[in-house]
Amino acid sequence: MGNRIGAQAESALRISGTVGSNKVMESELLRLVKRSPFHVRVPKPVRQGSMALRYPFDPAMAWVAACYHRSSSRIGWELASSPAARLEPLVADLVPMLAVDDRLPRGRSVTITVEVKGVEDFEAGPLQLRGAVKSAFEEAMRKRGGQAVVRDKAAELEILVRRVGTADNRRTLVILDLGRGPRHLRGQRVAQGPAPMRETLAAQLVLLAKWMPHAEPLVDPTAGSGTIAVEAALLARGIAVRKPDDLPALRLPVFEGLPPQSPPLYPDTRPSILASDINEECIAWMIGNLRASGLTGKDLQHSIVARSMDATEFTPERFAEILPDAPGEGGLFAFNPPYGHRMQGAEGDLLEFYRDLGRALKRFEGWRAAVIVANEAFKGAFNVRPALVKPTSAAGLRAEFLVFDLGGRQAGRARKR
Ligand SMILES: C[S@@+](CC[C@H](N)C(=O)[O-])C[C@H]1O[C@@H](n2cnc3c(N)ncnc32)[C@H](O)[C@@H]1O
Repeated sequence: MGNRIGAQAESALRISGTVGSNKVMESELLRLVKRSPFHVRVPKPVRQGSMALRYPFDPAMAWVAACYHRSSSRIGWELASSPAARLEPLVADLVPMLAVDDRLPRGRSVTITVEVKGVEDFEAGPLQLRGAVKSAFEEAMRKRGGQAVVRDKAAELEILVRRVGTADNRRTLVILDLGRGPRHLRGQRVAQGPAPMRETLAAQLVLLAKWMPHAEPLVDPTAGSGTIAVEAALLARGIAVRKPDDLPALRLPVFEGLPPQSPPLYPDTRPSILASDINEECIAWMIGNLRASGLTGKDLQHSIVARSMDATEFTPERFAEILPDAPGEGGLFAFNPPYGHRMQGAEGDLLEFYRDLGRALKRFEGWRAAVIVANEAFKGAFNVRPALVKPTSAAGLRAEFLVFDLGGRQAGRARKR
């Protein structure tokens, strides 16, 4: 046994994501806070594994993250933790801490939900654990002269319980969810193809590739329902994932005085984006999703384009016809090709497709390609040496983010990594 620390009040702002997402999430937060109306210095976070960042809590920083952060899965405020892995000691630890926690409402009724995740090593089932944490809140709120009214969804206090820490210091952590549940549920996707990608992963892909929307176009040649193109455009404009009004936790006194609106951070950016797919049916899905995300306004009419096209026949000339006003001499391909697991077609066809795609994209001098793929054979068949390889997971499969410099001449656009 190592140094087991007893039950304690916690206070970190917690930003969590998928395997290996720490670095991207950290740099996104830094960029957002810099662009926000607040003068806050973002400290170096403490990393918890490869998928969670912990910052000293600052209300303005938490507000920015809850409204705008696109690459994370959850934004939370840690309230309390306990080494207890059994129900009774856990409740005994939580009640007194929550009862004196002045971040929580006092003297009134409050609605709460409790969700548990990643609690396999807790010595009771998830339903029992959820019930116990609900009871702890009910009792604590009674002690605070009020009442906790438990709901199944949508409440003022949305509580998430997880097990965290190393093998010799496992803890049960109680988190107040500030960002309204899983962040990939953006609420804007109206149509999806047979193999849609999580929005949070799409955001990670674009951020990982260090796309510069002012200086280079972005092309998704296997766009399906357009998730990557939509996320790229929303990132380029700095559009909020959630409005403060939709985030009940932001009504807590600690957030008083923070803005009631979350306007775009880069409202004047007009990115050049092409989303294309061989399947004509995808066009309607892409347009539907772009429209639902507010990306079909007049000012973006010629800036975000959807086309039906075979990616293996794509050429720089064709690109120049479609987006004649695109900036720069290079550009970024960002895509997730068919993996073979969920798509139709024999494995042989897939390898041929990867090879033909590599051959087509190599025609684009000075461009880069950022790919997320869950098929080990992709790298070999695409036949370009990756400049960056990063493990992740997609659709429950082991996957990789890959970034390639294309076109032989490693033009000045290749990013410093
Ligand atoms: C994994 S899905 C992409 C999903 C997409 N990122 C989304 O979120 O909806 C791969 C896509 O590649 C498309 N595709 C397959 N062969 C293609 C080709 N030769 N040219 C262009 N697109 C192709 C498929 O139609 C499919 O929509």
